Amino acid sequence: LNARARPLSAGAPIGVFDSGMGGLTVLAELRRELPQRRFIYLGDTARLPYGTKSASTIVRYALQAAELLVERGVGTLVVACNTASSVALPALRERFDAINIIGVIEPGAAAACAQTRNHHVAVIGTEGTVRGGAYDRAIHAILPDAQVSSLACQLFVALAEEGWVDGAVVEAAVHRYLDTWLAAMPVHPDVLVLGCTHFPVLAHAIAAVAGPGIRLVDSARTTATAVRTLAAQAATLPDAGSQAGLEFLATDGVERFARIGSRFLGEAIADGEVELVEL
Ligand code: DGL
Repeated sequence: LNARARPLSAGAPIGVFDSGMGGLTVLAELRRELPQRRFIYLGDTARLPYGTKSASTIVRYALQAAELLVERGVGTLVVACNTASSVALPALRERFDAINIIGVIEPGAAAACAQTRNHHVAVIGTEGTVRGGAYDRAIHAILPDAQVSSLACQLFVALAEEGWVDGAVVEAAVHRYLDTWLAAMPVHPDVLVLGCTHFPVLAHAIAAVAGPGIRLVDSARTTATAVRTLAAQAATLPDAGSQAGLEFLATDGVERFARIGSRFLGEAIADGEVELVEL
């Protein structure tokens, strides 16, 4: 969690931003932790994926998304997208210094550091997340002697969106990415960070290939726990009267958002519930 994190204001809704629907895995965990809060979720479906884009483009997109959520009155912004968290967090915190901005990298890195015994942490994510190196930096800030091995597993994003979370094709893809990578490491990692919004739905298949010696850290879950801690610190603040609830905003394809998003959220979303917005 960033050093500047403040307790969450009690009344304002919590904004959750992702490149698309994958961040609904983070929203699902947030709702479990904070069922009484109001959330506004924005998926930039018109411009996804972020994972293959350059850092400057991702920063520009993330600033535009945050702008819209701030206009809608959020007091806290959770950047659910690992790629955006990895490259755009400093720019977001600089531009929007009046709101609390929480990314998924720091909580995931902290959980990995707490769980590793041999100080060898493996991280999988998109190309942008791996290239940005934010997990390496966040892990080394806590455990300077840690060895961090990172791998981009871009195809997992497509598999998860297709709803293919097990079976022969998924197993083959997981083997293809992980086998040679893990085998080439002189010291086996004992923690593997799922550094992408989409990967929690593939956790079962990934765990099966990684083997019992490697514990998976789900950055969606660890971020939700971090946000709950901030909310607990705000328990003494006056409640401005917000009500529990969910709003969905998407920049394109509300029907696809509802259909695929239901899978990531773990509950049904109706087309009519998703508002089309322009950034
Ligand atoms: N949300 C992205 C992430 O967590 C995955 C999808 C994308 O590439 O946009 O990195």
